Amino acid sequence: MSNSKLDNVAMIGAGTLGGQIAWHSAYMGKQVMVYDISEEGLEKCQAAQATYAAIYQSDLEASESDIEATRSRLSFTTDLNEAAKDADLVIEAVPEMPDVKIDVYKKLAAIMPEEAILATNSSTLLPSAFSTETGRPDRFGALHFANMIWALNIAEIMAGPETSDETLRQLTAYAVEIGMVPIPISKEQNGYVCNSLLVPLLQAAQSLVTKGVADPETIDRTYMIMNRGCTMGPCGIMDVVGMGTLSNIFSYWGAQLDDQEMLANAAYIQEHLIEEGRTGLQAGRGYYEYPNPAYQQAGFLNVPSMSEVPALAAKAKLS
Ligand SMILES: NC(=O)c1ccc[n+]([C@@H]2O[C@H](COP(=O)([O-])OP(=O)(O)OC[C@H]3O[C@@H](n4cnc5c(N)ncnc54)[C@H](O)[C@@H]3O)[C@@H](O)[C@H]2O)c1
Repeated sequence: MSNSKLDNVAMIGAGTLGGQIAWHSAYMGKQVMVYDISEEGLEKCQAAQATYAAIYQSDLEASESDIEATRSRLSFTTDLNEAAKDADLVIEAVPEMPDVKIDVYKKLAAIMPEEAILATNSSTLLPSAFSTETGRPDRFGALHFANMIWALNIAEIMAGPETSDETLRQLTAYAVEIGMVPIPISKEQNGYVCNSLLVPLLQAAQSLVTKGVADPETIDRTYMIMNRGCTMGPCGIMDVVGMGTLSNIFSYWGAQLDDQEMLANAAYIQEHLIEEGRTGLQAGRGYYEYPNPAYQQAGFLNVPSMSEVPALAAKAKLS
């Protein structure tokens, strides 16, 4: 397969995923301009990327010069025109809210070069929901990355009804060029493969917390014993995903499906986590405190000592 023509990338939205996709694409040799609606968004992104630099050095054995080269290929702006006007590929990672995405697509339609491809990183929405608004339905599709892109290197590729074969070829080639395993999705599916598996898991875990059935550590301990060798449980995963994104997903789908349990979960996350500043790993606080969350500490999965029995028995009392 020949290389893609996608060398200049505009990353729209500099949050959790936008920051990671931008950093990783630059690390793999792409020129990336990162756009966010706010200076604050860009500042947070740059702070997070300092963390990614350390992770890439420790986990991927990146050298100082690899990190310097990555930084040199990244630029940042709050000017959408500047970000998109010369891009070959525009990747959208703004909040999971259809109105926000549509607004961005309409603005991009007036700016992007004719040939350029637009890809959404949406976790749960379908390309067909947006293809008209993009003004380029044949050059639009979903390219969905996982959080912690450096370790969970999948790129799910999903077409809308009008996405061209060439766009799919370009997006697949781009995924390979930046070291991803492409996951082709053969039918439009909310949540692709990854989130079709993950969201029900997170919803189930959150429902247990919301209803007061078990606390996050108990839920994760159960999951990690049942899936020996995994590195975290669903509440730890929620911290990685970020509470803002989860709250958006649960409130949108709760309303769409008239699912009261999902809506209760969205309200719980808003009140008990977001309003308390516990927005997840990126903030250093979510269900767990970072670094060194409880689930990474020695003994998390061990049979407890007898001194812990009274506290555990008290938790088993009906409330
Ligand atoms: N968090 C995850 O684990 C994850 C994984 C895969 C895909 N995604 C998807 O990626 C997208 C972004 O999610 P996230 O978790 O990075 O969100 P986030 O809330 O961390 O970041 C969103 C960013 O977009 C910015 N923004 C808001 N409105 C904007 C606008 N109009 N134009 C430009 N920027 C704007 C915000 O300032 C923020 O920096 C969503 O579609 C989500 O479903 C998220």
